[in-house]
Amino acid sequence: MSNLSGKAISYWIDSTPETNFPSYNSNVSVDVAIVGAGIVGVTAATLLKRAGKTVAVIESKRISTGVSGHTTAKITSLHQLVYAELIKKFGEEKARVYAESNQAALEFVAKLVEEEQIDCDFSRQSAYSYAESEDNLKDVEQEVEAALKLGLPASFVRQTSLPFPIAGAVKFDNQAQFHSRKYLLHLINRIPGDGSYVFEDTRVINVEEDAPCRVITDKGTIQAKDVIVATHIPILDQGLFFAKSYPQRSYIIGARIEPSKAPQGMFIGVGKNYQSIRTTPDKDGLLLLIGGGGHKVGTVENTEEKYQQLENFARSRFGIESIDYRWSTQDFVSFDKLPYIGKLTPFNQHVYVATGFSLWGMSKGTMSGMLLADLILGVKNPWAELYDATRATPFVSPKGLAQNIDVGVHWVGDRLKGLGKSLSDVTTGEGKLVTVDGEKVAAYRDEEGEIHTCSAVCPHLGCVVAWNSAEKSWDCPCHGSRFDYDGQVLHGPSVKDLKKIDSKVRS
Ligand SMILES: Cc1cc2nc3c(=O)[nH]c(=O)nc-3n(C[C@H](O)[C@H](O)[C@H](O)COP(=O)(O)OP(=O)(O)OC[C@H]3O[C@@H](n4cnc5c(N)ncnc54)[C@H](O)[C@@H]3O)c2cc1C
Ligand code: FES
Repeated sequence: MSNLSGKAISYWIDSTPETNFPSYNSNVSVDVAIVGAGIVGVTAATLLKRAGKTVAVIESKRISTGVSGHTTAKITSLHQLVYAELIKKFGEEKARVYAESNQAALEFVAKLVEEEQIDCDFSRQSAYSYAESEDNLKDVEQEVEAALKLGLPASFVRQTSLPFPIAGAVKFDNQAQFHSRKYLLHLINRIPGDGSYVFEDTRVINVEEDAPCRVITDKGTIQAKDVIVATHIPILDQGLFFAKSYPQRSYIIGARIEPSKAPQGMFIGVGKNYQSIRTTPDKDGLLLLIGGGGHKVGTVENTEEKYQQLENFARSRFGIESIDYRWSTQDFVSFDKLPYIGKLTPFNQHVYVATGFSLWGMSKGTMSGMLLADLILGVKNPWAELYDATRATPFVSPKGLAQNIDVGVHWVGDRLKGLGKSLSDVTTGEGKLVTVDGEKVAAYRDEEGEIHTCSAVCPHLGCVVAWNSAEKSWDCPCHGSRFDYDGQVLHGPSVKDLKKIDSKVRS
C-alpha cells in the first residue's frame, strides 16, 4: 500500500460530476469530427458549432480526464522564460505573434466565461517567473526586457507574496487561472443537438483522408469532411510529432492552506528543479497547488519520491495544514519551443492536429482551437504560418535524437541487464520486467498477491516499457505511451493495449 499523503486523484476531476455521454453506436456523418475532448478538442468544437458546422466529438475515455483534467490550469502568456529565446531564434516579429496569440487565447477564455457566465472559478491573477538565486537573475532580467519589447504587460520585481525570499521575478499583470474541468464541462454540454454529437468511451483507431474522411473507431466508422486529431500527441504517426517533441511528466499536490498564509498570484520558478505554485478555492476553503519533479516519461521508477519532495517543499515553505490531493500528468515539449498546429502533413487537406504545448496548453490549446476552427472555416489567421504543423523542425537535431533515441535505447538497455528470471521474483506491490521463455514480460503483483502480466513491448514502435511505482503504470520511455498494470492504454500515441500474457502458463 502506498503511504503517500492525499487522495490519488486530480482535484479538478474529484470536484466535478462524472459525465455520461453515449458511446458511438450509429451511422453518423458530420462536417467536422474532433478526436479527443481536452481543451483543444472542446474549444474547436465550440467555435465550429457556433459557426454553423455540425461536429462529432469522439473521446476514448471521459471528457476532460486527459491532461486538461490534470493540469495546474493557469492561463497566461508568461511561459516561464521564453521570449528572450524566441527573439534570438526567430526574430522580434515572430516572437510578437507568439505573445499576441497567447494573450488572445487568454482573453478569449475570459470573454467566453463572461458571456456564458461559466461557473469555473475564473479569476484574474498576476503571473510570476521567479529566480531564487542570483545565478538565474540575468535570465529573468532579459525576459522582462524581451517581453516589454513585444508589448506584453511585464515588469521586474524583487518581492512577491511568496513566503520565502527571491532574487527577482518577471511579473505579468492581468493573467488568469480557472477550474479547467468546470470550464470544459460547461462547453461540452452545449455541443450535442442540431446534428452535432459527443461520444465517450469510443477509441479512434485510425483516420483515413478521403471525400469524406473516415474516422475508424472501436465502435464503428464516422464520416466527416474535416477531422481534428486533438488527442494530445496525435495518434496518427504520419506527422512524426512523437519524434519532434518529447514527453515530460510532472507531479502536483493539493495542500490545505490557511488563506492568510496563501500567496497571491501564480508562480513558477526558473532554473533546475523548479516548482509551479497557485491556489484554488474549494468547498472547504483554499487549496495550494504545487507542481514539480519533472522528468521524461518512463525514466524514473520510484515516482513516489517526486510526491514526497513536493510535500517536503509545501511543509517547509508554506506551513500547510494537510495534503489533500496528489496527481501527475505529462505534456509534449517541442524542440523549437513552438506548438504544432495545422495540417497533419503537407499531403493532407482535411486532417488537422495540435500538439507540443511544452506545459502551457491552457493558452496554446485554446489558441489551437481558435486557429484550427479558422483553418476549417477558411478564415485567414495571422498565427497560422508560425505554428504550421508541417514546418521544418529540428527533429533530427543532435538534441532531438539524444532525447528520443538515448532514452529509448541506452536507458532501456541498462534496465534489461537487471531483468528478473521468473514471475516469482516479483514481490507484493512490485512491478518488474521479467524474461519468461525469451519473452519480455511486464509483471505486477498486487496487494492480494495476484500477478498481472502483459508484454513489455510497447505496441506503438516497439520500445520496452518501464514501471512507474506511484501510478502503478507501465510507461514507455520512447514517446510517452502509458498503460495500466493490466496493459490497457492510458495515454497515446499508442492506440493499442499491451499484449496480454497468461501468467498461469508462464509462472
Ligand atoms: C503537470 C502539468 C501542469 C500543467 N499546467 C499548465 C498550466 O498551468 N497552464 C497551461 O497553460 N498549461 C499547463 N499544462 C499543459 C496543459 O495542461 C496541456 O498542454 C493541455 O491540457 C493539453 O490539452 P490537449 O487537449 O492537447 O490534451 P488532453 O487534455 O489530454 O486531451 C486529449 C484527449 O484525447 C483523448 N484521446 C486520446 N487518444 C484517443 C483516441 N485514440 N481516441 C479518442 N480519444 C482519444 C484523451 O482521452 C484526452 O481526453 C500542464 C501540463 C502538465 C504536464
Ligand atoms: S510510445 Fe512509441 S514506442 Fe512506445
